[in-house]
Amino acid sequence: LNYNVNRERRYILQVLFNGLRRLEYRGYDSAGISIDDSMSLSSDPNTPQPSSSASVSVPLVFRQEGNIESLVKSVYQEVAEKEINLEESFWIHAGIAHTRWATHGEPAPRNSHPQTSGSGNEFLVVHNGVITNYEVLKETLVRHGFTFESETDTEIIPKLAKYVFDKSNEEAEQTVTFSQVVLEVMRHLEGAYALIFKSRHYPNELIACKRGSPLLLGVKELTEDVKSGSAFHDDNFLSKNGHPKELFLSSDANAVVEHTKKVLVIEDGEVVHLKDGAVSILKFDKDKGKHGGGLSRVASVQRALSILEMEVEQINKGKYEHYMQKEIHEQPESLTTTMRGRLIRSGSSKPKTVLLGGLKDHLKTIRRSRRILVIGCGTSYNAALAARPILEELSGVPVTMEIASDLVDRQGPIYREDTAVFVSQSGETADTLQALEYALENGAMCVGITNTVGSAIARNTHCGVHINAGCEIGVASTKAYTSQIVVMAMLALAIGGDTISNQARRDAIIDGLYDLPNKVREVLKLDQEMKDLAQLLVAEQSLLVFGRGYNYATSLEGALKVKEVALMHSEGILAGEMKHGPLALVDENLPIVVIATRDSCFSKQQSVIQQLNARKGRLVVMCSKGDAASVSLGGSCRVIEVPQVEDCLQPVVNIVPLQLLAYHLTVLRGFNVDQPRNLAKSVTTQ
Ligand code: G6P
Repeated sequence: LNYNVNRERRYILQVLFNGLRRLEYRGYDSAGISIDDSMSLSSDPNTPQPSSSASVSVPLVFRQEGNIESLVKSVYQEVAEKEINLEESFWIHAGIAHTRWATHGEPAPRNSHPQTSGSGNEFLVVHNGVITNYEVLKETLVRHGFTFESETDTEIIPKLAKYVFDKSNEEAEQTVTFSQVVLEVMRHLEGAYALIFKSRHYPNELIACKRGSPLLLGVKELTEDVKSGSAFHDDNFLSKNGHPKELFLSSDANAVVEHTKKVLVIEDGEVVHLKDGAVSILKFDKDKGKHGGGLSRVASVQRALSILEMEVEQINKGKYEHYMQKEIHEQPESLTTTMRGRLIRSGSSKPKTVLLGGLKDHLKTIRRSRRILVIGCGTSYNAALAARPILEELSGVPVTMEIASDLVDRQGPIYREDTAVFVSQSGETADTLQALEYALENGAMCVGITNTVGSAIARNTHCGVHINAGCEIGVASTKAYTSQIVVMAMLALAIGGDTISNQARRDAIIDGLYDLPNKVREVLKLDQEMKDLAQLLVAEQSLLVFGRGYNYATSLEGALKVKEVALMHSEGILAGEMKHGPLALVDENLPIVVIATRDSCFSKQQSVIQQLNARKGRLVVMCSKGDAASVSLGGSCRVIEVPQVEDCLQPVVNIVPLQLLAYHLTVLRGFNVDQPRNLAKSVTTQ
């Protein structure tokens, strides 16, 4: 929403389109936008129109299947065809836009957002999340004469808003306010959502609300009292002194950071009302509303603004062609940031140690746990698996691994004496969040490891560690993976404490951590070699990756990268299980990567290589520098030599060549690196 004089609608469109481009990594199958048409806009800055003034205008809605650029093209085409005046200046303008990742209904204009209440666009809604009771609500609305054009769960929301609006206006003496309509709608919704409402009946106003899905408000050009007091009240603080303002609502900071770093993280149940350039926030209390009979009762809230620790450069590609490529290559820096201020090595007399500020008050409880459960999905799960051995070794507590959805499906037992560690780059993954809810209900100590400050997992766990890897945009996670492993190694050190028996091991790991960014820099020099290997493998149907011990996770994660971006079948295999099935696949055609870097499993991996060679396997062996001759054992395998580091940190180094391989395979095979088919970065639905 803009509160600017003499800005044109062209500008509004550009702001919204750029915002969508920044969010495209979260959804890229269809997109839509709504702006006001000229008749609802006041062009005189000295006489801002009261929002109550009757408006005859209908908000314009554009929706398009495909990526953001297809939307942009179709909007400008329609603008030209219908001779819509984009040069019009205005006092206030409220626009909304959305990029979609299909949950209910195929990607198609009718299923794209904004979803509408029907012809005339009385109410328009963009939605991130999923409404679980939409079928029941739909049946009721159909009984009241509404017809539906989409297969989305979202469509019930604008229709319900229209129903509430019409009914309330019939019954009430005074015209119902926009907030009242939305609060009543919220009372009926179940599931997870972040919503923005726009309405023809309330020009120059937007309402946003959320439960479960993320939402933040960006404020550009703050008043002095907000800057200094860092808190504001609901009473139109922005309009008080008449400064021009721009306000931004978004699912994540990426779309906002180029306009402002001052944000407010909206909390569950909050309803943000933007009206005539002013903000007010109400807290929705579902229970009060239930018994209140009519419109829900609410309280206004005071909230503090936070400053984003994010630079615009972080979300640009810089000299790289793709975000995934950039994120692979920036790992020496992201790892440095992850460790910054957390490793203590001062003076030879003092023990080397780690400092994790977010955990310090809870370490005693964690150490006393009967069990540590580590829970995540996808790459985050793999990172946790890579750190499991060191967590077990240093903590002395049994560590069990859980894929979040599986834990929830089984309702596996969790006890008060357990510590549950939730690993998630986004901090928003629906399955992981559900597992967190379940662990909290069962009284476990909950620790969050996320890359997103203010995310649901960061907020709802008892304590935690931010991985500080910087914004990750490539859908395939790379730098977050290595930073997650490092954070969990530091977690193991922190839980392990200062025991004398562990001192030498601890010192070696801390020294290894210090040196890790350099080793990653070194392994990144394999880029060309991995490109050559990709060339060799480009036409293959399948790739197996064998690993064990610390590098079982590397085999799973390497295979996941190849599968998700290069769209090539790939499987990570625990080498210890080779004889129990996978060996049957081995012949002279199927390429196999074997990870055989130096650690306690080295000799076992040598015998795996021997057995694969005996069956004429087409091997690519990853080994420690200097081991090329000994690992190939006279066979004809290709070798990738990587620098050797402390065993528990070796997965950080070993994954890098496989990330590069997956990247180059994808480019060579002609697929979209940053937006792989059918996958989303933040999976906020189950
Ligand atoms: C999706 C992403 C993966 C990610 C997984 C878990 O599948 O495509 O890259 O590893 O979700 O996400 P999280 O944000 O919880 O780490």
